[in-house]
Amino acid sequence: MKKERLICPYTVYDHLEELDPSDAELLRLSHEAARNAYAPYSKFNVGAAVRLANGEVVTGNNIENAAYPSGLCAERVAMFAAMAKYPNVPFEALAVTAYSTSKTIDEPVAPCGACRQVMVEVEQLSKQPLRVLCQGETGPVFAFDGIESLMPFIFLDKFLG
Ligand code: THU
Repeated sequence: MKKERLICPYTVYDHLEELDPSDAELLRLSHEAARNAYAPYSKFNVGAAVRLANGEVVTGNNIENAAYPSGLCAERVAMFAAMAKYPNVPFEALAVTAYSTSKTIDEPVAPCGACRQVMVEVEQLSKQPLRVLCQGETGPVFAFDGIESLMPFIFLDKFLG
């Protein structure tokens, strides 16, 4: 028997000026996208922005439904829209941000497990690490270089045989 330990490296940016301008712009577009959220039930408005290798940026926002599970997270809206509009174009980075009308979100939003699983697939298809940038409405930015830092013990297609 032996105990193992996982290391999930990420970078914390306390100031936007520390970021590469293209990452700062992606975050800005994500904040902008959050304004389009349809979140009457949770009041948790999420934005996401995907930067592709062809230079295009595709945004998304969460969309809720009275039948709760029928809604979709901002990240998956953005990723699926990018894949629909630009099939086969690798993903470089994804930013996710949020604001709420009931409290100030000053810590980074952590993508849900289902979105992380989709990021895994996207990263594999892209054949390059996916940079994931997370922020609240304000506060620090966490940057993950590669989905494995966000999602260890990934379920991979290789298990399917
Ligand atoms: N949500 C996202 O859009 N992304 C996340 O990473 C976490 C949660 C949405 C789903 C739902 O509309 C609301 O936030 C509250 O869970």
